[in-house]
Amino acid sequence: MLKVNNIDVFYGNIHALKDISLEVIEGEIVTLIGANGAGKSTLLKTLSGLLKPKHGNILYFTQQIAGKPAQTIVKSGISHVPEGRRVFSNMSVEENLELGAYLRNDRDGIKKDMDYVYELFPILDERRKQLSGTLSGGEQQMLAMGRALMAKPKLLLMDEPSMGLAPLVVKKIFEIIKAVNSQGTTVLLVEQNANMALSIADRAYVLETGKIVLSGTAKELQESEQVKAAYLGGL
Ligand SMILES: Nc1ncnc2c1ncn2[C@@H]1O[C@H](COP(=O)(O)OP(=O)(O)OP(=O)(O)O)[C@@H](O)[C@H]1O
Ligand SMILES: [Mg+2]
Repeated sequence: MLKVNNIDVFYGNIHALKDISLEVIEGEIVTLIGANGAGKSTLLKTLSGLLKPKHGNILYFTQQIAGKPAQTIVKSGISHVPEGRRVFSNMSVEENLELGAYLRNDRDGIKKDMDYVYELFPILDERRKQLSGTLSGGEQQMLAMGRALMAKPKLLLMDEPSMGLAPLVVKKIFEIIKAVNSQGTTVLLVEQNANMALSIADRAYVLETGKIVLSGTAKELQESEQVKAAYLGGL
């Protein structure tokens, strides 16, 4: 579904991604784990068209998408749940969800997906008319995910959904990621919470200072001494 080939991404002189290659097969949950500043968000931003690689290419099905406008990429079925949720605080839950579908014009499909999101997240249904800025962190994460789902993605990019949330809320969010995946959406999940991410993923990559240093099945990485020492410490 997605093949990233040898991309390099810079912020001015800062070389944030160094010769990164990875792939995602349709139907998988793939996780990219790494510490603060490793380049995880930079990779997702590059996939969703917010940043342009200096070298390399990104193949999505048969289409080259590196450097394409973000809306073209969303339209082709990739949606991004950004780090820190970024919901529109002064708009209601429902308005945020409607915005997620702004590039679509299939009214019936939009209605169906709105029902699907409310089914996944009953709390959002209860809070349809509530201003998003007044939601809890976990609810805002659900809303950000719901908003991304309203674009009807084939590939969902998620940037640290567990950040700042209580363990029980994280568990709930991860169950929903699993459920969405089993309904047919492929997921690329970026996390610092390696333990949780590896527990739901099929395969994983480890990113360190802009480079992929390890990859394998989630099970292999859970058992790797290197990963245990660096990312699963104390768990
Ligand atoms: N807008 C920017 N301008 C300059 N440098 C940046 C910018 N955004 C990120 N960087 C740098 O690029 C590197 C990768 O950052 P990135 O945000 O992708 O890391 P991350 O793995 O998502 O980290 P975190 O877990 O803290 O979210 C870091 O060294 C960071 O300081
Ligand atoms: Mg980040």
